[in-house]
Amino acid sequence: MEIIIQPDSQQASGIAARIVARLVQEKPHAVLGLASGSTPLQLYRNLVAMHRDSGLDFRGVTCFNLDEYIGVPPAHPSSFHSYMWAHLFSQINMAKERINIPDGMSADIPAACRKYEQAVRTAGGIDVQVLGIGTNGHIGFNEPSSSLSSRTRIKTLTDETRLASSAAFGGHEAVPTHVITMGLGTIMDARMCLLLAFGKKKAAAVAKTVEGPVTAMVPGSVLQMHPRAILILDKDAASGLKMADYYAWVYEHKPDWQKY
Ligand code: GLP
Repeated sequence: MEIIIQPDSQQASGIAARIVARLVQEKPHAVLGLASGSTPLQLYRNLVAMHRDSGLDFRGVTCFNLDEYIGVPPAHPSSFHSYMWAHLFSQINMAKERINIPDGMSADIPAACRKYEQAVRTAGGIDVQVLGIGTNGHIGFNEPSSSLSSRTRIKTLTDETRLASSAAFGGHEAVPTHVITMGLGTIMDARMCLLLAFGKKKAAAVAKTVEGPVTAMVPGSVLQMHPRAILILDKDAASGLKMADYYAWVYEHKPDWQKY
């Protein structure tokens, strides 16, 4: 794991945007894995600005979102479909037919999940998977106890996660109980995983993910087994890390050719 600690989320998101932009420039048919939530918002703002100001071209790019609520229509303001169109897709030139988000309205959820896995394979696999992390250590919607080799499937949300989304749905009770999420095995197949975490409330989950044991109770910890997992944190999210000084030193002393 590579741990990059930045003074704030702006600078952290700047590094993430450079990593994604470089991939898109070098590989015009890149495949991106995308996340929702508040964490990647600044990354998406940066990508929109790079498209608008320097012509970063997403025409050939394919993307797959991590997850979606079951039973929430795409047009619902709190669906992840709406989130992605509002914050990214409506402002860049990604082709509509290359945008993939799990279909939470499917009448046959297991078939929709199998189709999603197949679509990722047909696209050639994911080059960079952007991830946030839940306060309970979930990535995507892989809640604690998720199989470390799980594939895209239905999951039941924990109360903690539903509570975190209650504002978006106008109350805890209104938050859907079920979701479709890429599995931990699906995420692990990505050639690079880029996890962003900001704020004190993520510090415990980040510490367990990086320095705790690999366990299904902290789904993010599976990234310890990934050959190219990069975690970009602000100071607060890194505040529970025992070896923070070491990670900071390593990053500052990277040879130029390795810098982002
Ligand atoms: C949701 C999403 C995750 C996201 C997490 C954290 O559960 N399914 O992909 O990482 O929330 O959200 P936030 O970035 O808003 O803290």
